[in-house]
Amino acid sequence: MNLSVQLAPKNKRGLLLANPVMTASGTCGYGTEEGYPFDIQRLGAFICKGITLKARNGNIQPRIIETADGMLNSIGLQNIGVDALVKEKAPVWVKWRVPVIVNIAGTTVDEYTTLAAKLDDVAGISALEVNISCPNVEAGGAEFGVRAEPAAIVTAAARKATSLPLIVKLTPNTGDIAGVALAVAAAGADAVSLINTLKGMAIDIDKRKPLLGSVTGGLSGPAIKPVAMAMVYEVANAVDIPVIGCGGIINASDAIEFIMAGASAVQIGTASLVSPGALLDILDGIEQFMSERGIEDIKELIGAARH
Ligand SMILES: Cc1cc2nc3c(=O)[nH]c(=O)nc-3n(C[C@H](O)[C@H](O)[C@H](O)COP(=O)(O)O)c2cc1C
Repeated sequence: MNLSVQLAPKNKRGLLLANPVMTASGTCGYGTEEGYPFDIQRLGAFICKGITLKARNGNIQPRIIETADGMLNSIGLQNIGVDALVKEKAPVWVKWRVPVIVNIAGTTVDEYTTLAAKLDDVAGISALEVNISCPNVEAGGAEFGVRAEPAAIVTAAARKATSLPLIVKLTPNTGDIAGVALAVAAAGADAVSLINTLKGMAIDIDKRKPLLGSVTGGLSGPAIKPVAMAMVYEVANAVDIPVIGCGGIINASDAIEFIMAGASAVQIGTASLVSPGALLDILDGIEQFMSERGIEDIKELIGAARH
């Protein structure tokens, strides 16, 4: 049975995954933590926590709350910074079989350029995922990914700074996700991943105050799955580069739905916070689904529900 997928067919280096199951950034750390709860090497790819130029402590507490069928987080990109990542994490990753993809985040175009340049040609890093759900401080603070033009500018800047495969991670907080996807594809993205979290909020009615320290946060988990699915379907119909589906996947049938909607691979986030073994259960479940139906190649399922 062939589960392998190529996520950067237009890039010289390529990004070949042994299977389509990958971590979603920010929900599985750097993978180097002591006593990691599952065998990372069985995954198709590992995506680490979002990295910025300088180390960040993240937002004020509380930063995580449960919601109906999901969660809100406002971690605020707490991370060790790119230099520590290159020095301390990449030397561990170089020994791994599973490709590691580094998720990068910035608040100016220059920051993305510098990050991509610093990570170019670092042994142990197979690709970059560009998080464009970040405030564009030079242009009033709206997320880069809300509009096609700034999204394309960031993508082109990262493209110029590295020859690594580039996945651009799209935000659902836009009225035109297919337009943004087309713009980043034209600007040099090798693949797109979607969706990042949806903007959300909750209030403590006794204290009459927002529950999250930073007032709003990002909604993830099963609650967002139908929204993510529709966006993956729409984007897969619009672009001619691979699409990676993400948002509320908790089991193999969720993952297969995304693949049938047009995703070549899937990312799993919140589910692994609830059940650390979720990713491998999902991989096993996809294999079981295929073997029970005599499906020889995962590619037979990619976009199977599109018309
Ligand atoms: C605690 C937490 C931290 C996250 N951190 C990042 C991050 O650093 N960079 C990023 O691009 N997405 C980040 N995300 C978004 C996830 O990667 C994913 O896009 C989103 O949670 C939807 O998938 P899910 O429903 O499977 O969790 C984070 C999500 C959560 C819940």
